[in-house]
Amino acid sequence: MNLSTTHALVRLPSRSLAACELVHLPRQEIDFARATSQHRSYVAALASAGVTVTTLPKIPNLPDAVFLEDVVLILDEVAILCRPGAASRLAEVELIKPKIIGLRPTLEIRAPGTLEGGDVLRVGHTLFVGRSTRTNREGIQQLRQCVAPFGYAVKEVPVTGCLHLKTGVTSPTEGVLLANPGWIDVTDFGRYEILRVPAAEPWGANTLPLNGRVLVAASAPRTADLLTARSLDVHRVDISELQKAEAGLTCLSVIY
Ligand code: GLY
Repeated sequence: MNLSTTHALVRLPSRSLAACELVHLPRQEIDFARATSQHRSYVAALASAGVTVTTLPKIPNLPDAVFLEDVVLILDEVAILCRPGAASRLAEVELIKPKIIGLRPTLEIRAPGTLEGGDVLRVGHTLFVGRSTRTNREGIQQLRQCVAPFGYAVKEVPVTGCLHLKTGVTSPTEGVLLANPGWIDVTDFGRYEILRVPAAEPWGANTLPLNGRVLVAASAPRTADLLTARSLDVHRVDISELQKAEAGLTCLSVIY
């Protein structure tokens, strides 16, 4: 079940984005002016879906700080400060902390655990958590302990071939998962209807459902058509420059 989303935090990109972490993509030149303009359009898309957006300042020396989702998970009852598996991203956590502690009781993932929010797919009271190059077993176990008192089940899912779990699977609408089975073993999601991304659009699975609307990357037109054919209210958002930094629609915001 995709609950209603009232708020989002985003962080402006900085020019250091050119030095971002890359795991599965070759480095390409990023047009920073275009990336900034696409980020603005992304924020507008969140707002037009009825979300109140708080925009945080850029952090010049932290290239990946624009990918805010990876450093904090906000549930209705509790927030969990993550501990990124990329060492270059650890400093992002302390910078978001003051914004979070006023919003929710706040818990933290501690060493040797690692957890990035891009690996956490919430479907109702189930958190599917990718075990990836960024999230380890210890981090998943700590998350399980953090959320168990609030009735959330944590299910570990192996991630291969892509950066985060949500690079390869999201839930565009209730009861349905959209996945790239080349990256994510869909047998792990037993009771959900699985839609497969068109073969030509391996990155198309990263959608962002918001209040009855679903944002789809403009680079995945066939995926958008597939969801439109299911009568979903699809809104296409061009994040092509940010995708060069291995970004998805979900990782550009923390929604709650
Ligand atoms: N460039 C996105 C990440 O690696 O975290």
